[in-house]
Amino acid sequence: MFSSIIVALFFFILIASAASIIYWTIRNGISPMPTSARVATKLLNSIPESIEGSIYELGSGWGTLAFPLAKKYPSNPIKAYENSPIPYLLCRLHLILFPQPNLSFHCSNFFDLQLNDAGLIVCYLYPGAMQKLKVKLEKSLNPGTLLVSNTFSIPGLKPINTVEIDDWYHSKIFVYKM
Ligand SMILES: C[S@@+](CC[C@H](N)C(=O)[O-])C[C@H]1O[C@@H](n2cnc3c(N)ncnc32)[C@H](O)[C@@H]1O
Repeated sequence: MFSSIIVALFFFILIASAASIIYWTIRNGISPMPTSARVATKLLNSIPESIEGSIYELGSGWGTLAFPLAKKYPSNPIKAYENSPIPYLLCRLHLILFPQPNLSFHCSNFFDLQLNDAGLIVCYLYPGAMQKLKVKLEKSLNPGTLLVSNTFSIPGLKPINTVEIDDWYHSKIFVYKM
């Protein structure tokens, strides 16, 4: 009896989690697909060794970039924003198991953020979000803030560096100085 309740609870949590991920994927227009290991390594190598100010990850998914960013920049606050509850909760759990004092996860919509203390912004989104982000960033960012984007460019802005990855998709990383 007790074991069948546990099994039922397990399947309930599994189905509810899948439903939540699907709901937020449709709502956001993007799934929590992680940056691949190869792209993550190139991305981390394409940004300077030292950054002034806070580092924001907009749409942090499962934390694939947030944790390595926290290791690479131990003296900077790394603020990771994700509004899909399941990836967010797993990142919180990961952070409890493997503490990283400079890293924090926030469950909220990054379009509502003030980014004026940002020294670096990292994202892997989709074309519509990059367009919307451009309007927001042009209003709120300090000049000189760096933005690095996996795969999607900011329409109408010239990157200071573009890195092409030798992978199946010929992924690109775009680095901008705002
Ligand atoms: C393609 S994933 C990238 C995940 C992670 N940055 C990586 O590179 O591995 C994009 C993430 O952005 C999140 N997202 C999209 N729009 C968002 C918004 N307005 N506010 C917070 N998170 C958002 C999605 O839920 C998804 O997890």
